[in-house]
Amino acid sequence: MNAGHYKVIYDTDPGVDDAMALYFALAHPAIDLVGITTTFGNVTVEQATTNALYLTSIAGRSVPVTKGVATPQCKSPKSPPTHIHGADGLGNLPSRIAASNLLDPRSSAQFIVDKARAQPGAITLVAVGPLGNLSLALKLEPRLPQLLREVIVMGGTVIEPGNVSPVAEANIWNDPHAADHVFSAGWKLTMVGLDVTHQVRVPLSMVARIAGHHRHRATDTLLHAVEFYARFYTGLYAHVAHEPGCFAHDVLAFIYLVQPELFTLVEGAIRVSTEGLSQGQTMMNRRDFIDYPQAGWENDEPSTRACMQVQAEACKTLLEETLMGTWLSR
Ligand code: BDR
Ligand code: CA
Repeated sequence: MNAGHYKVIYDTDPGVDDAMALYFALAHPAIDLVGITTTFGNVTVEQATTNALYLTSIAGRSVPVTKGVATPQCKSPKSPPTHIHGADGLGNLPSRIAASNLLDPRSSAQFIVDKARAQPGAITLVAVGPLGNLSLALKLEPRLPQLLREVIVMGGTVIEPGNVSPVAEANIWNDPHAADHVFSAGWKLTMVGLDVTHQVRVPLSMVARIAGHHRHRATDTLLHAVEFYARFYTGLYAHVAHEPGCFAHDVLAFIYLVQPELFTLVEGAIRVSTEGLSQGQTMMNRRDFIDYPQAGWENDEPSTRACMQVQAEACKTLLEETLMGTWLSR
């Protein structure tokens, strides 16, 4: 694969696993990160933006960063989950140095549209937070599905239980109306949801090895953040307590981009429940030969690919080898 083969806009709410995914993207030779678009989610959009600027600055990398939506489209905003990602989204860092990177003044949605129009068919959107920026970009430019190469979403679940309700995953639940718009838009869309992210646990010991290898502020920051995040997961799941670590949620979206052969997929229309007890549930039609009488499941609904199985050990090896590479400036 050629270096810089994938031109990517990374839509994100950093967030600990978002930070890990960002560093994977910066470290992987086939990924050319053309922009970072932020959203509320794990933290406020202001904090997400501060973190995106900070994480790129301390890694010595200059990538355009734009600020995106601050609230869900319709539902009332919820407080950020400070017990999972820390009040600052990075596990409550004890101190920070000044960030050198500056904010691009465009909105995230406008940035996505501008880039897609400038390079039709070239850009992949990797979205790992609530989907308000993508929904807004679709409203600004209805041809967006034809202008982008591909969209990869970390979010949702087909059969694995949810993580904010028995049926809903956090990114989708945070803005279910935006998510339903995105899943119905008709682009080449792949969902990397809890069905696979709960199969891949990143051990804290791996992140410690990476930090020990580089002895760099960026990987030290990641280690601090993952230590905090791992405490949450270790307290929640017995199998994670056995070997402290965290799920590989957001980074799996990038691993799918560069090595899709590690995943097994199913395909069908996905709709999102926007109200009530099932709010945020991603419902997939896996019987498209049935002509359902229920409106919303017509046979011309756009199809989404959902990852169902993943080769976990191969993903962990790729993650470690990539982050161990030469990608940090001194
Ligand atoms: C997703 O929710 C966020 O907390 C994580 O960053 C990830 O994107 C997992 O459900
Ligand atoms: Ca995220």
